Amino acid sequence: MHCKKPIGIFDSGVGGLSVLIEIKKLLPNENLVFLADQKNVPYGLKTQNQLEKITEDITHFLLGHDIKMLVVACNTATCYALSHLRKTFSIPIIGVVPAIKPAAQKSQKGKIVVMSTPATAKSSYLKNLIKDHAPGAQVLRIGCHGLEDQVEELDYIAIGQTLPKYATKIENFGADVLVLGCTHYPLIKDKIKRNLGSGVRVIDSGKAVAQRVKFILDQNKLSSKEKIFELYYTTSDTVKFSKVASILLAADIKAQKAVL
Ligand code: DGL
Repeated sequence: MHCKKPIGIFDSGVGGLSVLIEIKKLLPNENLVFLADQKNVPYGLKTQNQLEKITEDITHFLLGHDIKMLVVACNTATCYALSHLRKTFSIPIIGVVPAIKPAAQKSQKGKIVVMSTPATAKSSYLKNLIKDHAPGAQVLRIGCHGLEDQVEELDYIAIGQTLPKYATKIENFGADVLVLGCTHYPLIKDKIKRNLGSGVRVIDSGKAVAQRVKFILDQNKLSSKEKIFELYYTTSDTVKFSKVASILLAADIKAQKAVL
């Protein structure tokens, strides 16, 4: 069996491209429809009700492209809306959550920091992940205000001014593992690493999500054998998204406008 239908992937913005990159590496024959909901960025300041409504509208839009699977390439939307989406839609839906379990396995000191949006940091979803998968560890949750916007703008000057502040907190806490709990952050992983001592491992969920996508496709006999298209949409400025996505993906991306 072979299924050419695309996989739908969305985030509030360009952060979801960090997940798309891993899916493309592992599954080069899959057709993809990516949506950046930049009209609503940042998700990290939205309520559960708002996120359920927004992500439901996005899923309807992507189903209009006959997607066979949905990847919620956003930790915040996963924490607050994944169960609503799974109740509402019947296609397989995969979310992204902070990599707490691998962090607990890797940490020698039992001291872990999770950087995420403010909403993910205070979510009971994250608290439960920590309780279930890192019960013996000390975990510091840092809700970062504005870092995702700086990544959206590729404002490396602002990013360079922001990161040392977090690096100090991480080092003062004495962590040996840092979890990137927002999909925007892997796009600046090198810069984050450069601000930290070599004693801190930096991990994210991108590869694990791609492996999960492959597993579900294989299990449901939904894999594609032929790459035909990749489509990119934004709910905001197509010129701006295309420019930033082209830099991040090192490719010529021409996004279309999505009206939800
Ligand atoms: N990239 C998103 C995440 O993983 C959200 C960023 C935002 O819109 O606040 O949480």
